[in-house]
Amino acid sequence: MSFVVPDLAYGYADLSPVISEDIMRLHHSKHHQAYVDKLNTAVAGLDLGDDIEQILCNLDSLPESVQTVVRNNGGGHLNHSQFWQIMCPGGSSPAGAVVDALSNRYGSLDRFIEEFNTAALGVFGSGWAWLMPDLSIETTPNQDNPIMFGGDKPIMGCDVWEHAYYLDYKNDRSSYMQAWWSIVDWSEVENRYGSAIIS
Ligand SMILES: [Fe+2]
Repeated sequence: MSFVVPDLAYGYADLSPVISEDIMRLHHSKHHQAYVDKLNTAVAGLDLGDDIEQILCNLDSLPESVQTVVRNNGGGHLNHSQFWQIMCPGGSSPAGAVVDALSNRYGSLDRFIEEFNTAALGVFGSGWAWLMPDLSIETTPNQDNPIMFGGDKPIMGCDVWEHAYYLDYKNDRSSYMQAWWSIVDWSEVENRYGSAIIS
């Protein structure tokens, strides 16, 4: 059993101009593929099954020699798999229970976006900003995911590694963050919010 990079539901050029075809092609077919390849090499012969979330929730149970490589590359696989799914060409209009709940909690959707962007800009070096099922905002370094530390699975995350934006925005993470919201698929975030609060 080996892990595979999931196909995108859209073409490499379809998130342009927010994220260019060059970035998408590289990010999906090279970066994500490399995480999957290294993950597969690390877990070969360990019989861990194919549920990456389960594996990452139980990193401590793995042989110590593979814990770090599985954490980094398994995290990269899980994080990017979600990232591709919560974006869509042109975005989808912010509506539904999650948007209502965010507006209530933060005062408005725009205020939430401001706070999320501030958190994302505060990530030193490479990492992710997350929207959690309880609507709090978290960040993690590298390819860490809150589930590795006993936390819930985020319902949305933004990749703030430089590989996610440098070709288009150079070092301007702020402009990337501002633009990124226009390709967020709010209906997918809504689905994930609904599943999270039911479970
Ligand atoms: Fe990435």
